[in-house]
Amino acid sequence: MTSERPAVVHVTCCPDGPFLVRGADVIRDEDGVDHATHRPVVAVCRCGKSTRKPWCDGMHKLLPRTPPTPRAATGE
Ligand code: FES
Repeated sequence: MTSERPAVVHVTCCPDGPFLVRGADVIRDEDGVDHATHRPVVAVCRCGKSTRKPWCDGMHKLLPRTPPTPRAATGE
């Protein structure tokens, strides 16, 4: 990490969408290839349908939504 970036990386899991990664300099894909990041926040595909992997390109929006789990539905 550079001194300009935070030392901590934050990952937010978007329901039926990407991981939003804050503070990373590099994202390593499933093949072990490193992808440099130049933005403070990047969206990483987790649906497997992006045409720009490892980045999210919005293709997840075309997929059926996952029904909420009982825990999420009750807000616990
Ligand atoms: S999560 Fe957005 S395209 Fe896969």
